[in-house]
Amino acid sequence: MLQDKITQYTEEINAFSTAKAAELEQFRIKFLGTKGIIKDIFDEFKAVSPEEKRTLGKVLNVFKQLAESKYQALKEQSTETSAGKEEGLDLTLPGEGFEIGSRHPLALVRKEIVEIFNKLGFIVAEGPEIEDDWHNFSALNFPEEHPARDMQDTFFIKKGGEKGDIALRTHTSSVQVRMMESGKPPFRAIMPGRVYRNEAISARAHCFFHQVEGLYVDENVSFADLKQTLFYFVQEMYGEGTKVRFRPSYFPFTEPSAEMDISCTICKGAGCQFCKYSGWVEILGCGMVDPNVLENCGIDAKKYSGFAFGMGIERITNLKFEIKDLRLFSENDVRFLKQYKTTLI
Ligand code: DAH
Repeated sequence: MLQDKITQYTEEINAFSTAKAAELEQFRIKFLGTKGIIKDIFDEFKAVSPEEKRTLGKVLNVFKQLAESKYQALKEQSTETSAGKEEGLDLTLPGEGFEIGSRHPLALVRKEIVEIFNKLGFIVAEGPEIEDDWHNFSALNFPEEHPARDMQDTFFIKKGGEKGDIALRTHTSSVQVRMMESGKPPFRAIMPGRVYRNEAISARAHCFFHQVEGLYVDENVSFADLKQTLFYFVQEMYGEGTKVRFRPSYFPFTEPSAEMDISCTICKGAGCQFCKYSGWVEILGCGMVDPNVLENCGIDAKKYSGFAFGMGIERITNLKFEIKDLRLFSENDVRFLKQYKTTLI
């Protein structure tokens, strides 16, 4: 009896050939469902005699496999067709366009800064982001109790290494030291990199940002060389006619020191919110390398002099692209980033 049923259903399964989703689902429920035929047959099987079990067991398994593989095969066909013409989709149409990624605005500006200084013979040098006290502070003439060493500014990593506490560098000036320690003058390099400060994040401050340090050491380097170099940089970066002015300032590692402003690139000096209606914006710190720093790095300060400068890439980018909120640089918002696709690739 059971054998007859199986034969009959086997024929039915073999004859079934539709791949239409609704009918296939009926098929599944009928044969493979929890209340389906296969379940029934297996229940009936429990009651047959032991001899019958031996022969019927195999037949039953073959039958079950048949139903399952039929269902699988038709299901695959059905998804292929429904992904194709049945749903009105033309698979012969060309694929969607391939979107080219864009450069991060900071990367674009860093590249441009490097290119400008390359033209003046500056090479690119880099140093570690995890620094010791000597390279970040002491060699740069920071007094022992200078507030910049304070916990509030510096992310310390470890106390008391061979060359002092280990911290995340707070500026790229540390790379100057590494460069001068490991070579002989003349030096003419720019040093781009990421720096870290323990600041609350806002539109105008971040706990990490990027700087480019510049260093020029040779015999007879003067403040006039510094001014001319930076003037050239500004004309290249922001266009001819951009004005510069130097204001006296203080940095432990330069003497004399200055800060350089440029005429506001947004209002062209007329006064706007960006330049706080002054017509000027500060873009960098600079000065003549303090003889103490040269000596700390093993360079004869009687023979050599040099200038140095340091600028924030974010600041230069703010002015270049009129981006007002620093946080945009690290939020990875594609709507922001993709605007820079076609510029300066
Ligand atoms: N290191 C300074 C800072 O992070 C920037 C700076 C100022 C670098 C003057 C210099 C320099 O090389 O001469 O604020």
